Amino acid sequence: MKTLVAYASTEGQTRKIARHVADRIADLGHSAELISTDEAEGMDLGRFDRIVLAASIHVGHYQGRFADFVAEQRDIIKNRPNLFLSVSLAAAGHDAEDWRALDKILKDFEAATGWTPDLTEQIAGAYLPSRYDIFRRFVMRRIVAKKNPDADLDADIEYTDWKALDALIDGWISDGA
Ligand SMILES: Cc1cc2nc3c(=O)[nH]c(=O)nc-3n(C[C@H](O)[C@H](O)[C@H](O)COP(=O)(O)O)c2cc1C
Repeated sequence: MKTLVAYASTEGQTRKIARHVADRIADLGHSAELISTDEAEGMDLGRFDRIVLAASIHVGHYQGRFADFVAEQRDIIKNRPNLFLSVSLAAAGHDAEDWRALDKILKDFEAATGWTPDLTEQIAGAYLPSRYDIFRRFVMRRIVAKKNPDADLDADIEYTDWKALDALIDGWISDGA
């Protein structure tokens, strides 16, 4: 069984998550190919048995080129067991309004691409001020300070729960997805 793990990442956390997923699948004895959707235009997905897609949210949207890739490959993706990993900071918390927003972003994405994933998991990403330009730093400091007034706004913080991610992938693979 060969699995494609295709991702879009702006600051690198979703790439790290996607690589972790591909490594985990390989550790389980299956083959996995990792690719950025930025480099996958026109790629033939027919040789894959399962598909994992991962993207992150910035200002209420997944990466545009990721959505283009999904829309272009929709028919093949739909015909394979598929899993969508939606990465955001909102998923790191328990704010009901934030979770409603995540749901709306997902619904809008599904409507725009014509793809409703078999399974979607909301995955907590990271706050990485060391990688942000001035604009990103400004936007993110305000968001994080509002949520957590005690946070050290200069420190990188990874919220991704790697153990939970492993359990998700183990279950998905063993279900014969
Ligand atoms: C400019 C900017 C805007 C963001 N907008 C949102 C947002 O609207 N909702 C959210 O939950 N997270 C938001 N985030 C957090 C990212 O989703 C999070 O940092 C994620 O780990 C980024 O993944 P990446 O490193 O793969 O790009 C934003 C981050 C940045 C830098």
